[in-house]
Amino acid sequence: MALSNLASEISRRRTFAIISHPDAGKTTLTERLLRAGGAIQLAGNVRAKGERRRTRSDWMGIERDRGISVVTSVMTFEYGGCIFNLLDTPGHEDFSEDTYRTLTAVDSAVMVIDAAKGIEARTLKLFEICRLRDIPIITFVNKMDREAQDPFALMEEVSQALALDTAPATWPIGRASNFVGTYDLRAREVHVSVPLEQSDPRMIALGEELELVQAALPEWNRESFDAGHLTPVYFGSAMREIGVTDLLDALVSFGPQPRAQATDGRVVQADEPTMTALIFKIQANMDPNHRDRMAFARVCSGQLTRGMRVKHVRSGKQFALHTPQFFFARDRQLAEEAYAGDVVGIPNHGTLRIGDTLTEGEELRFTGVPHFAPEILRRVRLDDAMKAKKLRQALQELAEEGVVQLFRPQDGSPPIVGVVGTLQLDVLQARLAGEYGVGIGFESTPFSLARWVDGDKLRLANFVATNRTAMADDLDGDPVFLASSAFMMRRTAEMNAELRFVDIKQIG
Ligand code: G4P
Repeated sequence: MALSNLASEISRRRTFAIISHPDAGKTTLTERLLRAGGAIQLAGNVRAKGERRRTRSDWMGIERDRGISVVTSVMTFEYGGCIFNLLDTPGHEDFSEDTYRTLTAVDSAVMVIDAAKGIEARTLKLFEICRLRDIPIITFVNKMDREAQDPFALMEEVSQALALDTAPATWPIGRASNFVGTYDLRAREVHVSVPLEQSDPRMIALGEELELVQAALPEWNRESFDAGHLTPVYFGSAMREIGVTDLLDALVSFGPQPRAQATDGRVVQADEPTMTALIFKIQANMDPNHRDRMAFARVCSGQLTRGMRVKHVRSGKQFALHTPQFFFARDRQLAEEAYAGDVVGIPNHGTLRIGDTLTEGEELRFTGVPHFAPEILRRVRLDDAMKAKKLRQALQELAEEGVVQLFRPQDGSPPIVGVVGTLQLDVLQARLAGEYGVGIGFESTPFSLARWVDGDKLRLANFVATNRTAMADDLDGDPVFLASSAFMMRRTAEMNAELRFVDIKQIG
């Protein structure tokens, strides 16, 4: 493919995630975005919450039962000449590891805020992750059709809470049940759902507020946005479909294009001619009729074509991409070609793992996909001792998928699983029973903390030998030290100052 063509394909990719506190309206906004992009046809607006969630991922019983979104997936749609890849992040904080990994695969994030509640705990946490990677953020103040905080106060709150410049991009016209649309501050256009006379009190109020806006609030600045220092703020109501196209138009006009990505050797530019891709997510059972396993790859550079042979850098092996797939709201399609920024699913049987790099032959590994030290450690108790072998295989597979982290104690005692939140344990238990027919329970362990240990080979070997009963191997065979308390962990680290005890492991 001609390079100019490659560059123009890449420049129309927009790969983003929505971050928000539960209930701020992420699901509703996602639906509206997909609909604006023509990706889904919905019968009507008002449907039960459970129903809506089912359409998104009806393959996972636990999610259905609890009415929470557990799983990260991707939705591709087209709007305004751009190809959007919207990566979904689980709303519940127990699945934050999944969310963090997903955020390594996006170029921007839309932060949805409830107009009455402002910045909430989880929004703040997710924002911090985005900031670590300087991901540009667009703010969407949702639920303006209800009683809301004053827009000036909201702008101030965002700016204070996040230490971020806020520049209004639109301004709300009318408030609460009289909210009818937005005024686009740059295009100087009124976008309303019902025609308004100039004499309408809402238009008069708008005129007065705009004077204040111009006098008091920062102006839009593209460089600051690209650097992650300024967020443009949009007002709207996902439910009433107000302000949704403002947001999409913003992403089309200045949404970040696929960014350069760091590797262990060099920085990979998105428009390089050769293809590279990063696996950031593994998902099983997407189709209840087939027990398949899908690796989600973000194409980081060049063009991926169906059938191409790629190098799997971790194993050094070559394999052909026979059936890469795009995901839409409801269905999937073979991806004949994909470009930097796109996210494709690659069906596989355990070859691909989170953090893996695919190239056209080059020996490089993308960095930055994290594993977090788990905050909860449990020993797995098998109901039926005859199923030990099956359990071993199942735990291996589910850990590769990122459902839990798996630690195999070096003293040969039963495996320990580590999680960030307890819902992950519920998912593990349900999936072991449902997919593998293995019943398990959990037992407490003497350990409450895990840290990866790294350092000089000989010293490390010595440390492992003298602490064998507190040592385990993770999925990759890397040594992990388990401590009974924070005090013990600190003491051990102090007594072994030449070694590093780390709580975040970069994979890849
Ligand atoms: P989430 O994914 O961030 O958790 O939020 P979700 O979209 O599920 O929205 C949470 C609740 O807020 C839902 O109400 C939804 O209808 C409502 N909502 C979303 N956007 C708006 C908006 O712009 N205006 C108003 N007024 N409400 C909005 P629910 O009662 O929990 O569910 P449902 O029965 O309405 O589906």
